[in-house]
Order: sequence, then structure tokens, then C-alpha cells
Amino acid sequence: MEAAQENGVNMSEEPINSQPSGLSKNAQKKQLKQQRYEARKAEKKARMKEEKKREAERKRKEWEEKLTNVSQEEQLKLIESRKSLRRERMAKRSQERENKIRRLNKAKEEGQNIVIDLEFSHLMTATEIHSLVQQIMYSYAVNGKCASPGHLWLTGCKGELESQLQRLPGFDKWIIEKENRPYIEALEEQKENLVYLTADSENVLDDLDPKKFYIVGGLVDRNRWKGITMKKAQEQGIQTAKLPIGNYLKMSSSQVLTVNQVIEIILKFLEARDWKASFFQVIPQRKRCETDLEEQQGEEEDCKEKDNESERKKQCIEVASDS
Ligand SMILES: C[S@@+](CC[C@H](N)C(=O)[O-])C[C@H]1O[C@@H](n2cnc3c(N)ncnc32)[C@H](O)[C@@H]1O
Repeated sequence: MEAAQENGVNMSEEPINSQPSGLSKNAQKKQLKQQRYEARKAEKKARMKEEKKREAERKRKEWEEKLTNVSQEEQLKLIESRKSLRRERMAKRSQERENKIRRLNKAKEEGQNIVIDLEFSHLMTATEIHSLVQQIMYSYAVNGKCASPGHLWLTGCKGELESQLQRLPGFDKWIIEKENRPYIEALEEQKENLVYLTADSENVLDDLDPKKFYIVGGLVDRNRWKGITMKKAQEQGIQTAKLPIGNYLKMSSSQVLTVNQVIEIILKFLEARDWKASFFQVIPQRKRCETDLEEQQGEEEDCKEKDNESERKKQCIEVASDS
């Protein structure tokens, strides 16, 4: 489980309460590794919380001492300068927010359309739905940070998924298309431009076409529902494509990625037109087949990487809540 789960965020596809019984030796080893990682993570979190508290206290004292050691006139100057610094910081943040809104509105007119198909909620557990909501929030945040973002669609958005999304702070202000209808109805006139991205397709994506609407299956299932998106697209008679992962790297397991990973790869590709760089930046090393390197670096490195990943996710989630 990802560390983010501690904050109620589980962006991985791993079940929360996996039972040890009936697990293969390999799975037990993996589980043990995971448990050790989680214990270390919890310790680190507590340590950091404590450190943060101490640092805040230290700064408060430092400020008070600074004030007591100077004249009243100096005190006023110090207070004014602190206030002005705060105002500057706030102005910078608000400028950044405005720029983001401008970029996202521009993407609405001319950006790459990316659809998240939310018609699978009946196939997911409550935990998986929660995880999907976190992945959507993360994807929105990453998109907002891009110099040239895409335009996100949430189709088939209803029921529990919709209620959970509505509860996200700032969700109402997100610059996206939110549709209760399935994409096949909402985008009826664009049917020939719909491309379902699915790892089971035989077509390898080599470029992104600005006219197309790339659909990502809103599913957290650890591939329990193997082939479901491929089957759906075939039945609907729409195009399919898989990411060209195999052309650039070997994966240690399947090439099925999470929703946020697929979206982030697309966004990175839109910026640099470089699949290899996009895969390397987004796909965690532990999922890539660099066994020699991985073995050398061992568990500690694996954990460090997970920490960085969840830190990145945490930062993005803060940005998304900022709307
Ligand atoms: C966790 S996967 C869901 C897997 C699901 N069993 C299926 O059949 O699609 C989430 C979505 O990410 C997209 N995806 C994941 N890996 C992909 C790949 N290698 N190429 C293209 N799309 C991919 C697909 O749209 C997929 O539905």
C-alpha cells in the first residue's frame, strides 16, 4: 500500500486488508516487505510531525526574542516587514492560481481532450472507488501544473463516485467537463475520434492526435477485470490503442498502469513529445524491469522511491484542493 494511504489516500491498486492466509511464498514476502515499509513510514511521519512542531515553536520564540531586544520603533518596522512578506507570498500564490486558470481555460478551447470513463463503479469495492477518486484528484492537479495542459472529461459521473468527487474541496471549481452521461452519448458526434486506451489493444500509440478524445478506463481493479475496456470499446465500435511501453522499457509485471499514471504520461508526452522520458518519469522504478539495479539498491531504495512518490502525490493533492 502506498504511504499516502495513511492520509486516507490509497492511490495504489493494492487491497487494504489483504489476508496472509492462502498467499504464495512470493506474495507473503511481498506482504512482509510492505508491512515493514508501512511501519517505517508511520515512524517517519510521527518524527516529522514532531520536528515540524519543534521548528514552529523555535521560530515563534526567535521572533519574540527579536522583538524584545529592540526599541518600539524597530518592533513596528519588523512587524510591518513581516506583514509585507506575507502579502507578497499571497500575491504570488494568487498570481499562480490565475495563471493556472488561464492555462486550463485555454486547454478547454484547444487542448488535448482526455476522458476518464467512470462507468465501472459497480465493479469496484468502496476502497477502490476511494482510490480512484484520489487518482482523479491527482491527475487534475498534475494537469493544472502543466505548461500546456489537456482538457479533462469525467463521463458517466454519477452515484457514489460523483458524491465522493463532490466532497473534494474545490471540486465545483475544477475546469473540466463533468458529464453524467456515458462518453458514447455525450460525445456521440465525435464517435470516429474516440480512442479507448487499453493495455489489451494491438494498436500501439505512436503519437497523440489533437482531434482525438483519448479515453482512460476509470477502474481500480488490479486487473481483476482483465480485458474489460478492450471488450467495451470493441462492442461500441470505437478505436483502441495501447501506450508504446514495450518499445522503450521492460516491465517487471504487466503493462497495465493506473489511471493517474496513464494521464501523467500523456501530459508529459504532450509537453516534450518523448515517450521514453515520459515513461521513465512516471512509471516507478520498482515496476520497471531493472532487476540488477533494484537488487543492488535493495529495499531501502525502494522505500525511498515510494516516499518520494507519495510526497509528490501529497503536494499535488494540496494543489488540487486549491482548485
Ligand atoms: C488500472 S487500468 C484498468 C485495467 C482494466 N482491467 C482494463 O481492462 O482496462 C486503468 C486504465 O488505464 C488505462 N491503461 C492502463 N495501462 C495502459 C496501457 N499500457 N496502455 C493504454 N492504456 C492503459 C486503461 O484505460 C485502463 O482502463
